[in-house]
Amino acid sequence: MDTDQNPKAKEKKTVGPSSTSAYRDPHYWDERFSSEEHYEWLKDYSHFRHLIQAHVKPGSSVLELGCGNSRLSEELYKDGITEITCTDLSAVAVEKMRENFSYKGYKEIKVLEADMLDLPFSSECFDVVIEKGTMDVLFVDSGDPWNPRPETVTKVMAMLEGVHRVLKPDGIFISISFGQPHFRRPFFNAPKFTWSFEWITFGDGFHYFFYISRKGRRSLNCEESCEKHEQPSSINLLHEELESEDYIFRMNIDM
Ligand SMILES: C[S@@+](CC[C@H](N)C(=O)[O-])C[C@H]1O[C@@H](n2cnc3c(N)ncnc32)[C@H](O)[C@@H]1O
Repeated sequence: MDTDQNPKAKEKKTVGPSSTSAYRDPHYWDERFSSEEHYEWLKDYSHFRHLIQAHVKPGSSVLELGCGNSRLSEELYKDGITEITCTDLSAVAVEKMRENFSYKGYKEIKVLEADMLDLPFSSECFDVVIEKGTMDVLFVDSGDPWNPRPETVTKVMAMLEGVHRVLKPDGIFISISFGQPHFRRPFFNAPKFTWSFEWITFGDGFHYFFYISRKGRRSLNCEESCEKHEQPSSINLLHEELESEDYIFRMNIDM
């Protein structure tokens, strides 16, 4: 439909990038975060809070990768998980998140500009590393998902190696993603990693994936990883979701 006759489409046109590779470009995110106050990729915390609570203890030290302008860390903080380091590649996201936490008095949360492909932390210093929709940006122009481009493989492995390095020996990596397990498994199960690989699906209509990797808990007996399903409460695709930018992003990483 012509965007001039459809105000909603017009509004969306100003948000999305001209090419999906821009999702990996900090300039795109800087510009976007300059005017956008809040956008929650995938689902908000209320949809997976029970999964977080099953895996993250209040005393845990948590590193969030690619916080953007999401409320994930704020919600974790409100649930008593206060030792949080938020990071993003976008200087604008970092500055705005810092201001937000300072205004709200969440003094314990640190916010740093950092590239998830080159994490500026010492080894084995976090109990939990968490990301929502951030690893997905590495897949937006990956080509054939069964045989991703070498550049994609290099970037994803750099990210996972960094996450594995900064996790404590019994730490866990939580990845909340659009990406389906058959495309993620080859990366998570690379021989160099000692973590397990499990996932749980959640969400109405579309499924989202809550991946949990426990360092030091890799099963040598089982190549196929365990899956714990949550039954979707509805099989209907929500029209709003189909229209959203998330949907466009999802199509680009899964097809
Ligand atoms: C799809 S958004 C997800 C934002 C947020 N996690 C959420 O759930 O709403 C991707 C985020 O990753 C950030 N990002 C992109 N590449 C990055 C990188 N190499 N290192 C760290 N953050 C990155 C972007 O600035 C953006 O904030």
